[in-house]
Amino acid sequence: MIIVDFFEQNIDRRNTSSVKWERTKEVFKTDEDVLPMWVADMDFRPPQAVIDALQSRVEHGIFGYTFIGDTVGDAIVGWMSKRHNWTIEKDWIQYSSGVVPSIGKAIQALTEPGDKILVQSPVYPPFFSMVKSNDRVVENAPLVNAETRYEIDFDAFERSLKNGVKMFLLCHPHNPVSRVWKEDELRKMAELCLENDVIIVSDEIHSDLILKPNKHIPIASLSDEISAQTITLVAPSKTFNLAGLQSSAIISSNDSFRKKITTIDQQQGAFTLNAFGIIAMEAAYLKGEEWLEDLLRYIEGNIATVKEFFAEHLPELSLIEPEATYLLWIDCRKLALSDAKLNQLFIKEGKVGFNPGTSFGEGGEGFVRMNVACTRNTVIEGLERMKKAIKS
Ligand SMILES: Cc1ncc(COP(=O)(O)O)c(C=O)c1O
Repeated sequence: MIIVDFFEQNIDRRNTSSVKWERTKEVFKTDEDVLPMWVADMDFRPPQAVIDALQSRVEHGIFGYTFIGDTVGDAIVGWMSKRHNWTIEKDWIQYSSGVVPSIGKAIQALTEPGDKILVQSPVYPPFFSMVKSNDRVVENAPLVNAETRYEIDFDAFERSLKNGVKMFLLCHPHNPVSRVWKEDELRKMAELCLENDVIIVSDEIHSDLILKPNKHIPIASLSDEISAQTITLVAPSKTFNLAGLQSSAIISSNDSFRKKITTIDQQQGAFTLNAFGIIAMEAAYLKGEEWLEDLLRYIEGNIATVKEFFAEHLPELSLIEPEATYLLWIDCRKLALSDAKLNQLFIKEGKVGFNPGTSFGEGGEGFVRMNVACTRNTVIEGLERMKKAIKS
């Protein structure tokens, strides 16, 4: 059942320290109010079961030291099996305050300063910054824009692996180009990594946000050998809009990888998660499925609205066919504007804030990323602002 009314609620997010709503002036360097369609969180309340679980914990009122109980692992194991047909063991799971911190841990645990780490641009900016801030070197095998979707240039990918790469940061599904990598693509990437002894870190934070008719396959689920070469990063944060609660999981069947990550945790004194993060994660994975299905249908409706609007009013823009996430990758190259001008146009003339394509590295020129995890009215307002900017 689609509970459209739930997702249509207009909830004012100001005065909650929302990065998306309250940091626009700094980010977009303007004094004007900008409609925020950028950072990847949603304007929706999470499943009621999550709020209830948090509320009952708040009611208890004592917030001493907490541990991550076995039931949290059970909930993750159950979710992976049910949603992704992936059988994992509870002791493959480690916890982390976020997927970006987990990328940092994996880099520190399994590579050395100066090592090369492979990414596929355009990609989520911390894929570059985490490599650089840990004194490792970015190796890039850019994705190829094949008009309506992106593909992997396997020759470039293999050349990069052979160029001394130690680790591959896979974004699956891929942010921002919205690809859900298919089994043959995953197998080919994994086999090349095995051949070249490259560790795979698969960021699968968006793996629950799959649009019809696509299907997410965890890369580690393809074979025992691939599993042993892989660290998979997942979280309830994107799926259920819980990013502020900072809880995520690191999954690997490889004992040695896990031991090395434990050493990093020990060095940082990172032994547990925030009490609320733990509770929300368990409740979401146990009780959030119906809400998620409703969310996905609502997002699909928002995407259809964008497509119709572009066809009718903005034929100069084209949308890369989204396979996952609520993040749309919009090709604005026909406007023939520099990136600086394109971004100024949307901010100054339209008063609407998107992520500039260039922030995702090579291949992002001429694109913007639009977040449609908001009410349909907000989507329409954003589109009208886009139109006003372009027609000006
Ligand atoms: C691919 C990807 N990984 C990680 C994150 C952020 O993860 P976290 O907030 O858990 O650090 C995002 C957020 O947009 C993302 O798109």
